[in-house]
Amino acid sequence: MEEEDEERCRQRRLEEALEVKSLRRIISAYLNYPEAAHEDVNRYERCFKKLSPAHKDLLSHSPTKFQRLRRCISINSRFIFTMLEAFDPPLDMSQDMDICEEPHEHPHNDNLFSGERNACPCHPASTSGRMCFTEADQACSGEQNNEIHKTSEVMDTNEEVEAEDSYKSKTSSLRADLENRKETDQSCSNDIADSNGNVSSSPREWLNPSFQLNVPLVDVDKVRCIVRNVVRDWAAEGQKERDQCYKPILEELDALFPNRSDESPPACLVPGAGLGRLALEISCLGFVSQGNEFSYYMMICSSFILNHSETAGEWTIYPWIHSNCNSLSDSDQLRPVLIPDIHPASAGITEGFSMCGGDFVEVYNDPSQIGVWDAVVTCFFIDTAHNIVEYIEIISKILKEGGVWINLGPLLYHFADMYGQEDEMSIELSLEDVKKVALHYGFEFEKEKTIETTYTTNPRSMMQNRYYAAFWTARKKSASLKHASS
Ligand SMILES: C[S@@+](CC[C@H](N)C(=O)[O-])C[C@H]1O[C@@H](n2cnc3c(N)ncnc32)[C@H](O)[C@@H]1O
Repeated sequence: MEEEDEERCRQRRLEEALEVKSLRRIISAYLNYPEAAHEDVNRYERCFKKLSPAHKDLLSHSPTKFQRLRRCISINSRFIFTMLEAFDPPLDMSQDMDICEEPHEHPHNDNLFSGERNACPCHPASTSGRMCFTEADQACSGEQNNEIHKTSEVMDTNEEVEAEDSYKSKTSSLRADLENRKETDQSCSNDIADSNGNVSSSPREWLNPSFQLNVPLVDVDKVRCIVRNVVRDWAAEGQKERDQCYKPILEELDALFPNRSDESPPACLVPGAGLGRLALEISCLGFVSQGNEFSYYMMICSSFILNHSETAGEWTIYPWIHSNCNSLSDSDQLRPVLIPDIHPASAGITEGFSMCGGDFVEVYNDPSQIGVWDAVVTCFFIDTAHNIVEYIEIISKILKEGGVWINLGPLLYHFADMYGQEDEMSIELSLEDVKKVALHYGFEFEKEKTIETTYTTNPRSMMQNRYYAAFWTARKKSASLKHASS
């Protein structure tokens, strides 16, 4: 018995260490962003230098563009860095150091938590509407201790930023920032020894360059994707896309729940909530809204925007600098975007708004979730499943009888075409079969249409990928009706 307990403990420690490892890798990807982005500019410069003098003369503005790109990267990096400073990891970041030394020894997993701890890592917002993202057993702590710098304080985009010609000087200044902060943290924190005499790690030491892993460039690409997602959810430029995707959902919810009362607002779950805007809008509509998301990339960023924004337009980022393709002009490519377009805390959220970290299947396929939700909203989500049948079954289970499932999205199966990973489960159904499965799980389709939309697309690009997304409202039949029809 004791041996079993020990084995379970050992297993759990190992799992936790792997989670920490995976989170370290994601933090490292964020921290590697400046280096990777500056390396791209180095490449543009090398190519430019290879041109003949005549061709160089023709493109004499290019060196200035490279310099501007570097400044934009610095400003993006500052945003990312401040976001990481504000992040409170839900795990003890010092614990994996001995167990996993090699950066690539484990399959990479972007996801939050795994195994049992997924059971319910959900965090209600406090009455102030603050969204919490901490471990399940930690109370919502309210104010963060760490100081947040706004871009406007650090770098004014209208000001001439000091010339930073080499990527090195830029990184070293970021590192200097880091060292300074570390010293401050150490002087402010009273490291507390536990009963075993272990001293807890000092705050933010996981941001120290010595803890940073070298991550593959694909990981840094994910950071660039997050920057594009920020535009979709939190910039005025994303409004058109939000109108295409979120507005029909919000209008449908508004029409289906006309008598929402402050005393007992209906409960709505948004699995795969991304950066949280749709979940926030649903909250503002008068629902007890919960976003569920399993990517740390997403959660670190949404937590920052939702909890730490002080005003609308507080941050400037340059989301489009990473591609030279399909630009109409350099100024289009180098245009700044202000975020967030609204101040989330003043948006009028309904009490009970929360973001729940973890895998949808693991968190919600739990007896405590049966018949809990009045509405489930899936936007660009159902095709993320390994097994879409399982997603639909869970959605049906967690809805109340008569509850509604509103879906908008394509069927671009996330795990399709995973060449070389033979055991990767992926059930890829046509829309017709998805609907058949939904009928089987007791849904009745009340509304169906196709919505043309983009997803994280640069609105000024010469390339605009479009989806003809399926939109539906399906109602979970009540048990008596189900019996009658079967
Ligand atoms: C295509 S994005 C859509 C995000 C958002 N709904 C939107 O429309 O912008 C899909 C999201 O689902 C998340 N996701 C994928 N599988 C998940 C799972 N099993 N549990 C929770 N979230 C998941 C991804 O991390 C990603 O943020």
